Amino acid sequence: MVVKITKLNHSGVGMSTINEKVVFIPKTIPGDIVDIEIKKEHKNYIEAIPVTYKELSRNREPIPCPYYQECGGCQLMGLPYQEQLNYKKEKVINILKRYANLTINPKIIASSPYQYRNKITLQVKNGQIGLYTQNSNDLISINNCLLVSDEINSIIKLIEEKLNLQDINQIIIREANNQLMVQFLGNILEEELIKNLSSQVASIYLNEKHIIGQKNITETLDKYQFLISPASFFQVNHNQTINLYNQVKEYLGPNNKKILDLYCGTGTIGIYVSEYCEQVTGIELNPSSVKDAKHNIKLNNLTNIKIKQGDVGKILQAQNTYDAIIVDPPRSGLDKRTRKTLLKIKSPKLIYISCNPITLARDLNELQSLYNLEDITLFDMFPNTYHVECVMWLCLKK
Ligand SMILES: C[S@@+](CC[C@H](N)C(=O)[O-])C[C@H]1O[C@@H](n2cnc3c(N)ncnc32)[C@H](O)[C@@H]1O
Repeated sequence: MVVKITKLNHSGVGMSTINEKVVFIPKTIPGDIVDIEIKKEHKNYIEAIPVTYKELSRNREPIPCPYYQECGGCQLMGLPYQEQLNYKKEKVINILKRYANLTINPKIIASSPYQYRNKITLQVKNGQIGLYTQNSNDLISINNCLLVSDEINSIIKLIEEKLNLQDINQIIIREANNQLMVQFLGNILEEELIKNLSSQVASIYLNEKHIIGQKNITETLDKYQFLISPASFFQVNHNQTINLYNQVKEYLGPNNKKILDLYCGTGTIGIYVSEYCEQVTGIELNPSSVKDAKHNIKLNNLTNIKIKQGDVGKILQAQNTYDAIIVDPPRSGLDKRTRKTLLKIKSPKLIYISCNPITLARDLNELQSLYNLEDITLFDMFPNTYHVECVMWLCLKK
């Protein structure tokens, strides 16, 4: 059956209709005319895959990745980069209108579309390195990803060539300041890792065990240094992280007494804005990130930041006063208790960083009872995928 793609859904999947029923076809863009195979028919929609591209959208650009069609990592390759940015902007505008009744006109900050990631998580099955295909645990064998640097790709090739990966399940490679950290999950001879990799990478881990080299690698953001260890969260797009944190700093403004940095990870945002504050308190659940955050505070010779370990929803207290609260939750957004406590604290400024506009809209529905939107900026942290990062500045209503 042949259909014409009319638009993309919020996950970057092409959409069309068959007899007024919506059909979702991944790896297509608006304007493509494709022969499809129906995979599953649901009550209200159909899932299909493209079999033959009868006519390509006039908008299309050549796809530089040989794995794109099967790999689950990217959704938007083929769509020119400016169109990707327009799609992401429209998506956030529509979601916030539909689910939070908010009319916005955000600017979106572009990234370099390739080689922007400082981390890749590779799956390994039967000794083969790869990535999962779209919506499945099937592996597509790859040894080169256009979203990471040439250095990371060289290490992937070296690992593939030199190591027996039969009992390895996953390999995580991270990069900072031209240093590489490689973590293997599964079983492999330590001597084999040392012999083949130790001269090429700064740090090697086998599961949680540090094998050789440095225990951490160090990232630089502006004038600050940050330790990265295998278990801690760190933003994946270095240049956009600097842009994002500068925006947070601008929204925050100088001369704050007390601020909160919730979901603070390795303390990066709190450290970045610390010169604008007398006291910063960070809260983070992951003990390994908390350890790194404390280390990062010392590394940057700061004395006005403290970190508490725990679940924000459980340990955030309503009695304190803060000039501003920065929240940067995971994709699930703020939990109910956190939303309630924030409405009790009533800090004059709230800066909300979100990687999921749907949960952002849900949270705003409640926060809007006390807060007005002052400004919003979008950051394309993840080019060629459907993801987008939003930073929102909210002010307490007078
Ligand atoms: C999107 S990351 C943000 C990290 C940091 N702000 C940054 O820019 O690197 C979200 C962080 O929230 C933490 N987290 C998730 N659920 C949490 C919870 N209930 N309470 C506290 N921290 C949580 C995660 O461990 C992760 O470090």
